[in-house]
Amino acid sequence: MNAHVRLCHADEVPEGSSRGFDPAGSGRDALFVVRRASRVHAWLDACPHWRGAPMAWRKDAYLSGDRTAIVCAAHGARFDIASGLCTLGPCLGQSLTRVPLIENESGELLVQLPLPTFEETNP
Ligand code: FES
Repeated sequence: MNAHVRLCHADEVPEGSSRGFDPAGSGRDALFVVRRASRVHAWLDACPHWRGAPMAWRKDAYLSGDRTAIVCAAHGARFDIASGLCTLGPCLGQSLTRVPLIENESGELLVQLPLPTFEETNP
């Protein structure tokens, strides 16, 4: 069954920040959001290098020190925030899996369950 789940208000994701969420209650963050150039992007917390390994080095920490790229904590792969494409590291040329994000008229960020799966974009 499809359901929309609230993540947070868009204002709770300031420019240059990232946040992880577990909308299905799986016990670990399944996706994260990043705001870059005023747009909020949502990606599965699943690195294409190791078949969907979790990427944060601590809660909500998905970005490089200068906050210009997503970085996987396991082996340092860097990903473009807007496209999800790996630009440096062991999965060069592969991409993160985008999660469709809905912003309602109140500014709440929602996702639809079930989430896309890592396998859908990395067959
Ligand atoms: S698991 Fe992400 S870079 Fe290796």
